[in-house]
Amino acid sequence: MFLSKEEENILDGQKGWILERAMRLLTTIGDLNDAERLVPIKRSQVAGVSYRTVGDPTLHLVEELAREKVRVRTEATQNPAGMDLKRWREMRVPEGFAEKQLRICRAYERLGVEASCTCTPYLSGNRPELGEVVGFSESSAVAFVNSVVGARTNRHGGLDALSAALIGKVPLMGYLLDENRTGNVHVKVCFKPKNETDYSALGYYVGKEVETSEVPAYDGIKGASLDDLKLLGAASAASGSVALFHVLGLTPEAKDIGGVFGGDKPKYKLEVTSEEVQSVYDELSTTEEPDLVAMGCPHSSIQELRKIAKLISGRTVKRGIKFWVFTSPKVFEEAEKSGYVSIIRSAGGDVFLNTCMVVEPIEEIGFRCVYTNSAKAAFYIPRITKDKCKSSIAPLRTCIEMCTTS
Ligand code: F3S
Repeated sequence: MFLSKEEENILDGQKGWILERAMRLLTTIGDLNDAERLVPIKRSQVAGVSYRTVGDPTLHLVEELAREKVRVRTEATQNPAGMDLKRWREMRVPEGFAEKQLRICRAYERLGVEASCTCTPYLSGNRPELGEVVGFSESSAVAFVNSVVGARTNRHGGLDALSAALIGKVPLMGYLLDENRTGNVHVKVCFKPKNETDYSALGYYVGKEVETSEVPAYDGIKGASLDDLKLLGAASAASGSVALFHVLGLTPEAKDIGGVFGGDKPKYKLEVTSEEVQSVYDELSTTEEPDLVAMGCPHSSIQELRKIAKLISGRTVKRGIKFWVFTSPKVFEEAEKSGYVSIIRSAGGDVFLNTCMVVEPIEEIGFRCVYTNSAKAAFYIPRITKDKCKSSIAPLRTCIEMCTTS
């Protein structure tokens, strides 16, 4: 890989051991993937924040880096933590967990990575532009900014996203290159999604079917909202590793069927009917009586909070069930001003920030059965809790009707 004089000096350790190791990681990844050179970035999303998922090794590493007083060179945001950073006691998060979680977030902050702790940074200011190269490491955010925004990022791990943020560059490879961005699987959608969970189930099914690095191009979706695409992308990134998808007539690089496949024939066609979608509902539904109904995977947008407030207004959450919504601090602020938060709380629900039903220590908090409208969350909850907590999917409206009385 070609390196400029300045980059070589960093690799030689002339700017300290941290930047040397960061540069070594980026150039190793670049060399392994035949990258020509490094290219500059202005934005990063850094995963590896929840103490639940990263544990003591990351805590010690990030604290060690923070002691060296290096700073990131990009606008960088943290992925969700394992708790609401302020209201963790109200979530009943254990004290020992909370202490370590706060240390991780503070250490990242000292490196210059903002503790917004959201997986939807693109809804909260850290939103790239069409064609902009960024270094994002949350799989759902990668899928959204690549596909819906039309920005360019590879699916970074937490450590290489942090390295890229410290150096301010990423290797020029993968989804940054035009030739890897065209669709190559023609997904014919042969049913009409009725709600956001149908979109999520569709993404989940396609993610399972396609190979890593294949780019599905959906044909037959009309009128999906940005929130529908957010759920679809998150699910296909979870069940498979889809980092980029196109939706004909909706996403920026999918104006027409010829262009979306770059003038070539797709490798194969995948037809999805309501039967396949129903199979996802069946696979991901393993519980009937929820003790937690949780929305916001990925973190809720202001439009989703408005919809939740509208549906829950005048209803009351049943005893023995919690209704929790997860969002980012910026969207929360807006929802509070608009009165949506107080409507949800008056009904007996709650809105938490910085975390979600997957990366919080859900079983230690005491939950055993979760209902959610997100296929990604329903997929991960039993896995991450080693089956101590079961999950099911249903659309938002059904979830609210199930856990409230009028
Ligand atoms: Fe975000 Fe948590 Fe879902 S990090 S995409 S809300 S699993």
